[in-house]
Amino acid sequence: MTRFLPDEAATTAFGRQLLDAIPGDLAGWTLLLTGELGAGKSTLARAFIKAAGHTGAVPSPTYTLVEPYSLPRGNIYHVDLYRVSSEDELRYLGWNELDDGCRIVEWPDRAPGLVAQADLAIHLAYEGEGRRVELTPLSERAGKLAAALDAVGGSCNL
Ligand SMILES: Nc1ncnc2c1ncn2[C@@H]1O[C@H](COP(=O)(O)OP(=O)(O)OP(=O)(O)O)[C@@H](O)[C@H]1O
Ligand SMILES: [Mg+2]
Repeated sequence: MTRFLPDEAATTAFGRQLLDAIPGDLAGWTLLLTGELGAGKSTLARAFIKAAGHTGAVPSPTYTLVEPYSLPRGNIYHVDLYRVSSEDELRYLGWNELDDGCRIVEWPDRAPGLVAQADLAIHLAYEGEGRRVELTPLSERAGKLAAALDAVGGSCNL
């Protein structure tokens, strides 16, 4: 499914809808966020984390690689692989121990093997003054989630 997001508020609303579409515990979900610099990946991740109940700041994980959040819906790990150059480095950031929560990953292209263990690829692209988000389900449960989001629609569902 794809949806046009005319402004930042639409990206934020979409991040909230995404969180709401995940049933029950967030544990074990892996969401990949792709798109060029400035496409809105962090905006979407921030909205997702706040929708799960986080009230403080959402710092960029560019240097720390992982920012953990312990929230009522479960743990969320905001991961940014921009500075990672090889798949081996995933071990150093303790990737395998992050499966007790939802991993939302910016720049997953740095570790191409992640696609095999992910649920959902979320791609953001520039379109005019706004952005277009495209969801590609990579697991059966993500297929249901994408269908549910499609059914909910949005103010700008095209
Ligand atoms: N749908 C939208 N339409 C227009 N602008 C948007 C939209 N969504 C987010 N933005 C704006 O895009 C800018 C960049 O957003 P953001 O930092 O989330 O991008 P990013 O993909 O994380 O970039 P980077 O790769 O540099 O980390 C912000 O100023 C944000 O307000
Ligand atoms: Mg970012």
